[in-house]
Amino acid sequence: MTFWRLGLLGYPLGHSRSPTLHQAALRALGWEGEYRLYPVRPTDAAALQAWVARVRTGQVHGLNVTIPHKTAVARLVDRLTPAAQATGAVNTLYRAAGQVVGDNTDAAGFWADARARLPLTDPTAWRGLVLGAGGAARAVVYALARAGMAVWVVARRPAQAQALVRALAPWVTARLTPAAWDALPRLVAQPGPAWLIVNATPVGMAPHGDASPWPATVPWPRPAAVYDLVYAPRPTRLVQQARAAGLPAADGLGMLVEQAARAFVRWTSAACEPVREAMLRAAGLA
Ligand SMILES: NC(=O)c1ccc[n+]([C@@H]2O[C@H](COP(=O)([O-])OP(=O)(O)OC[C@H]3O[C@@H](n4cnc5c(N)ncnc54)[C@H](OP(=O)(O)O)[C@@H]3O)[C@@H](O)[C@H]2O)c1
Repeated sequence: MTFWRLGLLGYPLGHSRSPTLHQAALRALGWEGEYRLYPVRPTDAAALQAWVARVRTGQVHGLNVTIPHKTAVARLVDRLTPAAQATGAVNTLYRAAGQVVGDNTDAAGFWADARARLPLTDPTAWRGLVLGAGGAARAVVYALARAGMAVWVVARRPAQAQALVRALAPWVTARLTPAAWDALPRLVAQPGPAWLIVNATPVGMAPHGDASPWPATVPWPRPAAVYDLVYAPRPTRLVQQARAAGLPAADGLGMLVEQAARAFVRWTSAACEPVREAMLRAAGLA
C-alpha cells in the first residue's frame, strides 16, 4: 500500500490550514500518508529546485506551493497546465509520465465555490469587479473570464492591473479592463449586468479583521454579490457589510477546500467527492 508523501512549500508557513484538510482526506480514505510543511526561504532557489526534483523522482507524490514561490516554481517544472500558463502561478506540483507538472487549482477552486455559494447560475448575467491584482487575482480573473464574464480589475497600482490584463488577454475572449480605485464610484454606477465583487487583496485578514477593502464612501451597486478570498476571521468585515446591505456574500474558506481537493485528486487519482466531503467537514463547512 502506498504511503502518500505530500506537503506544502512556502515561507512563512506557520498558520497553514492545508495539513488539516489533506490529513482529513487521507483518513477518510483509510490511506497511510503525511502532509508536511516544508519552509523554503524566499532566496533559496536551490532548495526549491531540489523539491521539484523530488517530485520528478517520485520521492514525494505531490506538493502545494504558496507565497513566495508560486511564480518562481513555474520556471522549474517540465510542463504547465493551461491554468498555470495563463496565470503564471503554480500552486500544485504533480508527476505525470516521469515529468513534473505545474498546475493552478486556485482558479477552478474559486469558481467552484463561488458558484456553489452565490447565485451565479448564468455567468453572462454578471460582470466581475476584482479588487487587487496579485497572484490570487490572476486566478480569479482567469476563472471569471473563462466563464464568460467581462471583468474589471481594480488595483492601487494601475500598472499592476494593466500587467494582469495584458498577461491574461491571450488566454480568454472575455473583455478585461484595468481600473484605478478612485474610478470605483463611476464604474459601479454604470448600468449593465449585476456586479460580482471579489476581494483578492489581503485587506480584512486577521489580525486586521476590522478593515474592509470596500470604500465606505462608495454605495453598493445593485444587484450585486460579494466573494471575499480572505477567510480569517469569519465572517470577514467585507462579508458582514455586504450581508448587512442585503447582498449575497461568501468568504474564501470554501475556495481553500476546493483548491485543496483538486490538488489531492491530481496527486492520488482519488475520487473527488469523498475527498471534498472530508475536507469540507475538516474546515467546518459540511
Ligand atoms: N481562499 C483561498 O483559497 C485563497 C487563495 C489564494 C489567496 N487567498 C488570499 O487572497 C489574498 C491575496 O493573495 P495574493 O496571493 O494574490 O497576494 P499578492 O500577490 O500579494 O497580491 C495582493 C494584492 O492586493 C493588493 N493590496 C495589498 N494590500 C492592499 C491595500 N491595503 N489596499 C489595496 N490593495 C492592497 C496588492 O497591491 P500591492 O502589490 O500594491 O501591494 C496586490 O494587488 C490573501 O489574503 C490570500 O490569503 C485566498
